[in-house]
Amino acid sequence: MVDYVFMQVKSILTADQFSRQDLDLILKNTARIESLLKKHKQLNILDKYILATMFFEPSTRTRLSFESAMHRLGGRVVSAVGMQFSSMAKGETLYDTLKVMESYADICAIRHPVEGASIVASKSISIPVINAGDGAGEHPTQAILDLYTISVHKDIAGKNIQIGFVGDIKYGRTIHSLIKLLSKFNASFTFISPAEIGLPEKYKKDLNQMNIKFTETNDIEALTECDVGYITRIQEERFSDHATFDQFKDLYVINKKFLKTCRKDIIIMHPLPRLNEVSTDIDSMPQAVYFKQAEYGLYSRMTLLLYVTGLLDKLDEFS
Ligand code: NCD
Repeated sequence: MVDYVFMQVKSILTADQFSRQDLDLILKNTARIESLLKKHKQLNILDKYILATMFFEPSTRTRLSFESAMHRLGGRVVSAVGMQFSSMAKGETLYDTLKVMESYADICAIRHPVEGASIVASKSISIPVINAGDGAGEHPTQAILDLYTISVHKDIAGKNIQIGFVGDIKYGRTIHSLIKLLSKFNASFTFISPAEIGLPEKYKKDLNQMNIKFTETNDIEALTECDVGYITRIQEERFSDHATFDQFKDLYVINKKFLKTCRKDIIIMHPLPRLNEVSTDIDSMPQAVYFKQAEYGLYSRMTLLLYVTGLLDKLDEFS
């Protein structure tokens, strides 16, 4: 658990930090932004603010949706992408890089290969830090957009929802954050993966402590009993041994034939990028929501930028 005492400003570091009340507020405002944006295209609330996107690992959706979110809120963006193109390639430490950046920006979204990097960042600087993925640790803002996606399709405040997580559950940081958020709702989990890339013990311990029901299996048939299928890529970059990665990479494939055996109203989610685990032959089926999910990243991240700056109330000025 993160020690929040050091947090002088509102940062987003882990999914643990959100109460059910916070999540309800974030979901409500994300829906509001989704509809306001259709009408207004731009909501000029952060016009005096600059966001720094500091991405030291590859990214498409997360960085672009953060940057687009900032632009749609009337704000500006400065960006350092890839260690090889920043002074870190010359040997500068992350600490020095961030200390310099904080005088150029008001909010920092950071992606870094080391678990816990965003916590270190938030201890080093005095502007809000947003964890945009820290190694195999967490990805809380992805989890927020995933939660929003589920809430659009399923009654998460009401009946028990069965979520099946498929693929790389060991290194999949989006899963780690999403189970923390879903634990605040009425959800049960089925983890479908080979044991070698199953859910790490620390997350199981937390689920047990909260009395949350979960099962683990390597059998993809278990997905046919679920309301939501959350499919993930095997995280090649986290494996020290390539043979293990090769062994798992094409193990599960969700295609049209398999989908016919699932519940009719199942939704298939994926944080993307996908490899072969979700076949393109289901892309146009109503169950496939992953491109919509990526779109929801824009609205969710607009909400989160207003959340960290304490300006969510400014949405009241738009109708
Ligand atoms: C995920 C990530 O970076 O953890 N992608 C994303 O942010 N949408 C998932 C992945 O890389 O497999």
